[in-house]
Amino acid sequence: MKRAAVTGDPVDHSLSPVMHNAAFRELGIDAVYELWPATAAELPDVIQQVRQHDVLGLNVTVPHKPAVFALVDEVRDTARRIGAVNTVIPMNGRLAGDNTDVYGFTRSIEEAADAPRGTGLVLGAGGASAAVLLAMSGMGLDRILLTNRTRSRAENLANSLDIANLHVVDESEIQANLPEVGIVVNATSVGWHDEATPLAADAIASLPVGSIAVDLTYRETTFLRLARERGLHAIDGLGMLIHQGARSFELWTGEKAPVDVMRQAVIAEQRRRAGA
Ligand code: ATR
Repeated sequence: MKRAAVTGDPVDHSLSPVMHNAAFRELGIDAVYELWPATAAELPDVIQQVRQHDVLGLNVTVPHKPAVFALVDEVRDTARRIGAVNTVIPMNGRLAGDNTDVYGFTRSIEEAADAPRGTGLVLGAGGASAAVLLAMSGMGLDRILLTNRTRSRAENLANSLDIANLHVVDESEIQANLPEVGIVVNATSVGWHDEATPLAADAIASLPVGSIAVDLTYRETTFLRLARERGLHAIDGLGMLIHQGARSFELWTGEKAPVDVMRQAVIAEQRRRAGA
């Protein structure tokens, strides 16, 4: 039996095993997907395991996505541009690092709403923002605005990504641009664990009806609820999780991922955990 895994610190609440094991079962692939928690110091050993044993593939999650970069033999374009590897693909004894978060974000928007127009607005410049920004750069938007509490962090990120129509703005500049926004993404951690919102309620009320609001967590946050009530398409992070996983699965197996089976497995597991 082959093994695949996700490594991170921690990974105990990861939904990835449920999703991938459902996909292996569906396609009759003799493999199991495991959780391999590892500290930063243990990460080189994990990568060594992947090299030495017959491992189908490895996902990498917080906080190790940037560190894996230096541990693989080859880094593919998307991963290089955003400075983060979330998928390791063993190939004839060599390890390739790729990033499927960009694809995952793009597909999650495509499946939920028409292509956004006008301005893209990204709130936050942490670990999740680079993938969101690169995905947005492929959506045909007029321009993309990036704002972050710590402006220098947004500027560093914008410089490293080198996206032509990406502009860093202060929070105070956002208000005037809200009527042009076709898609707004909360890539901060604000509101993930409480009722706080990354945009004030009156700002959410200035967003165009029919535009898209995204929160990268897996529940309906207050931000998403207010956006939905305003008449926006409110999209959580579950679609991104599923599609990044589906893309990883395809890179490892060469088979088309059973996306609906993966989605059903994740939703069932979420329900199970909510009831527990
Ligand atoms: P992750 O890697 O999980 O994205 P992170 O890198 O710490 O986590 O990023 C968290 C993001 O949320 C950052 O953009 C952070 O802003 P700073 O760069 O200024 O720290 C943002 N964030 C967290 N708490 C915030 C708050 N109370 N108000 C505004 N932004 C906040």
